[in-house]
Amino acid sequence: MSTNKSIKLSDYVEYPFLIPTIYLDFDICVDLVEVQSSMIIEPKLKESSRLILQGNQIKLLSISINGKELNSEEYYISPNELIIFNPPISKFELKLISQIDPFINTSLEGLYLSSGMLTTQCEAEGFRSICYHPDRPDVLSNFTVRVEADRDLYPILLSNGNKKYSGNLNNNRHEIVWDDPFPKPSYLFALVAGKLNTVSDEYVTKSGRSIDIKIYVETGDEKYTQHAITSLKKAMKWDEDVYGLEYDLDEYKIVAVRHFNMGAMENKGLNIFNSKLVLADEETATDDELERIESVIAHEYFHNWTGNRITCRDWFQLSLKEGLTVFRDQSFTSDLHNSGIKRIEDVSFLRNFQFTEDKGPTSHAVKPKEYVAIDNFYTTTIYEKGAELIRMLELLLGKEKFMRGINFYIKTFDGSAATTEDFINSLIKGAYLDKENCTFNLTKFLNWYYERGTPKVYVNQSWNSEKSILNVSFEQKINSDKTNENIEMVIPILYSCYGRGNGGEPIVEDKLFILDKNKKNLQIKALHGEKDLPVLSIFRRFSSPVICETDLSIDDYLFLFLKDNDYFSRWDSGQILMREIIKNNINKRVNYSLEYAFINAIKEIIKSLEIHDSFLLSTLLTLPGLAELETLFEKVDPINIYKESLNFQVLIGNKIHQELRVLSENILVNINQQWPMGRGERKLIGTIWSYLALAGDEGIKKDCVEAIVGSSMTMARSALRALKPLDSPETEEASNLFYDLWKENPVVLDSWFAYEASRSHKQGINVIEKLLAHSKFDWKAPNAIRAVIGGFSKNIESFHSIDGQGYLFMAEKIIEVDKINPITASRMVKIFSKWKTYLDKNKEEMYKSILKINKANISSNTREVVELILK
Ligand code: BES
Ligand code: ZN
Repeated sequence: MSTNKSIKLSDYVEYPFLIPTIYLDFDICVDLVEVQSSMIIEPKLKESSRLILQGNQIKLLSISINGKELNSEEYYISPNELIIFNPPISKFELKLISQIDPFINTSLEGLYLSSGMLTTQCEAEGFRSICYHPDRPDVLSNFTVRVEADRDLYPILLSNGNKKYSGNLNNNRHEIVWDDPFPKPSYLFALVAGKLNTVSDEYVTKSGRSIDIKIYVETGDEKYTQHAITSLKKAMKWDEDVYGLEYDLDEYKIVAVRHFNMGAMENKGLNIFNSKLVLADEETATDDELERIESVIAHEYFHNWTGNRITCRDWFQLSLKEGLTVFRDQSFTSDLHNSGIKRIEDVSFLRNFQFTEDKGPTSHAVKPKEYVAIDNFYTTTIYEKGAELIRMLELLLGKEKFMRGINFYIKTFDGSAATTEDFINSLIKGAYLDKENCTFNLTKFLNWYYERGTPKVYVNQSWNSEKSILNVSFEQKINSDKTNENIEMVIPILYSCYGRGNGGEPIVEDKLFILDKNKKNLQIKALHGEKDLPVLSIFRRFSSPVICETDLSIDDYLFLFLKDNDYFSRWDSGQILMREIIKNNINKRVNYSLEYAFINAIKEIIKSLEIHDSFLLSTLLTLPGLAELETLFEKVDPINIYKESLNFQVLIGNKIHQELRVLSENILVNINQQWPMGRGERKLIGTIWSYLALAGDEGIKKDCVEAIVGSSMTMARSALRALKPLDSPETEEASNLFYDLWKENPVVLDSWFAYEASRSHKQGINVIEKLLAHSKFDWKAPNAIRAVIGGFSKNIESFHSIDGQGYLFMAEKIIEVDKINPITASRMVKIFSKWKTYLDKNKEEMYKSILKINKANISSNTREVVELILK
């Protein structure tokens, strides 16, 4: 099953043929689909070259060139290729007739069945499971697609672009022809056929064109589409206002699909979405989920320019479209909502997931040099680190020049397939008009793309009180694979300084320092000749994705936690303090005075922020993630870290019980406002519930049970979260109520599955077995699998139990999932990435389970990850 051959960037060669147009004809029958393709092919070279097309599980019925059937000596079929030995040396038509069977396809790649409808997923290499084709992103064609099917079974027939024709045929069949006027690579092809209901709307572009918006859902789900439609319109408007980019087709279609490996897919004019990212309102989705949906809708929409109109030359360029588009969706959310909070959320995600990936066995550069399975490369490094690189460019260039650069890039490469180097070069050219004017070292900046790992920056200060000058020395360390080279990065550092005695006012304005050498010094002159050592606020807004070690004191961090006017830096100071406290507690070196000072700081913040900024307050009160805490230890004891983290919450809950009670009464009046209003208050109530429930407040437990029924999903889920670590009768009661209320809604029910799988139960693994055998559990839906099996990996005490049973169970389940869905399995197996960092006993047991997976007959996708993990 597995051949682990790696693909190398250095092996890239242009495809020797152009395929300007492709005509596809789908005849959907009862138990198979007949696919006819007609491609106009133009050889690029004068001499004849073999024509190689990719194919997977396709039954070829006929093959002809310019109307003449080929004989068996003229071509060759291997399990994954069709080779035509001597194609004509001038333009010709290749016609193929073939059959595929989407009805037995469980991989959710290519054409497959989801709840009775046929749907496609072609990125990255799924098109080759539909018909023989080069299936590489640098071959762009104009697609025309005809679909024919039974009118009752498949009343809706969709493909990319604009509708050209529709009509009835004999035998209760009908046909529709779709035409996409924009050349596109095969991975953007889509087809949907089934019983779907349509919700329509309209958007008028800046230039006055009317765009037909249509959302397709299963019967009964129409009522959950308004949020997606509103989000789409906001995204369309934002891209016009901020980037000057308008939508190009006459129609924009979104289909909601229950069985989907990823979140959503940007197929030209026909986005396909995991139903959990479309179907939502305040009753069924939390505030965070509503924001997530808004941003994913925007993300796929933004791809129309950054991804579709300009696509990737090859999959090594993946971050060209994904990093840039994540940056764009982050900016969108930031502009629409609270930019300070959004930055904190994005950084927290980056540190808990991308930094962890970069420390582990699957670490890779944003622009890797080789890969085995491309599906394994849709990682947080390509996405979120990729987005950080664009963010740094924005900061280095300034917003205005950055926009000029982006517009120049888009003009230059519209309609083509580009590389990340094309992007950077044209960005700089457009920004500065001439590359020579660039104010930072571009070659060194590019190391961000080529080097893996998180750079470290060491900061040391010395204060000259006579001259009121703060000297700051910086040192960067890159853990490069090129041991004999001195790698230097361009690290933009936003900083400011505060005087201790002046009520917390900054004594220098925000400034940018560019660390572009291994060592470099900065001199900061205090504005008013202050005599006391000021407090340095550094890496404001998290201006570059590095790990920073400073000589700031605990008092400095306490100061910044109270006073810093940058949301991120303020939050980060609190996180540093909390990490320090939890670490001390775990090492049995409790620092009572620090705990005391920290609790007092919280009390002061509560007093000063009160109801004005609930969102910030609740964010400041949120503990560091477990993944971040784990990085503080040489040998990780996951159960102990989890317990000490809870203990610390109990302590805070007890110490500020009264303050939190008063606060919650004050803000309660605001929680019923419509999203996004009232969001900060709801979030704060949730945080308060968690603290107070842990502190044993009986009244709060009752409130939580009551919140399950009849309030918003945000409050219901906050209540569940607060009760989760308790293992109390209220926890059971709330969970049961929630289940009864939502058992008919699969999207919401997944959150219940995840809840049950991740909370601690006395019966341990048996509970997970029961969930997997539950009548509402669907083995073919990745959402459900991730809810239960992914949820179980967060069930710290059960998953990490010292007898290794949790690991073994996980391994067995991953092997099962791999049999039906390798893409989902190879993502899940990364749960084991950190095995080497754990205590010896856990490590040994985890190792055994990984070996078990490795010994099984697994897909090449999963094999690639497992082998990396074992290395
Ligand atoms: N192009 C991807 C979806 C994709 C990736 C499909 C890999 C198949 C294989 C899409 O634009 C995307 O990035 N989706 C993300 C969500 C997004 C908001 C970051 C996803 O699906 O998780
Ligand atoms: Zn994307």
